[in-house]
Amino acid sequence: MLALFIFIPILRIVPKITYISHDEKKNTVEVPVGLTVMEGALQNNIQGIDADCGGSMACATCHVYVSENWLNKIEKIHDAEQDMLDMAYEPKKNSRLSCQIIVSKDLDGLEVTTPIKQT
Ligand code: FES
Repeated sequence: MLALFIFIPILRIVPKITYISHDEKKNTVEVPVGLTVMEGALQNNIQGIDADCGGSMACATCHVYVSENWLNKIEKIHDAEQDMLDMAYEPKKNSRLSCQIIVSKDLDGLEVTTPIKQT
C-alpha cells in the first residue's frame, strides 16, 4: 500500500515546456505526455506558433529553435521535416517543427524559441 502512495505522484508528472518569444518573453506551461509541442502551444494560446496545417508538415508555421542542451534529448529529425524546415524563415541547426516533437516525461523543462517572423 505504501508503494502505491509513492508511485501515484510520479505518474501524475506533467512535463513543463517553456516557450520563448523572439524578444525573450518566457511562457512556461504544462503539456501532457503524448501531445506535440505545437499542440501544447495551441492549447495554451502561445503566440508565434500558428500551425496552419494542423501538424501535417506542410506549413512550417510551427517552426521553433530548440535550446541547444535539449537537442540530443528529442527524437532525431527526419528527411521530410528537414525538407520543410529548409523552406522556413531563417532555419538554424537547432530548428525543428514543433508539430513533430512529441512530449514525453523526459522533455520536462524543454525550452523552445519562436523565430522573429512568427509573432
Ligand atoms: S503545423 Fe504545419 S508544419 Fe507543423
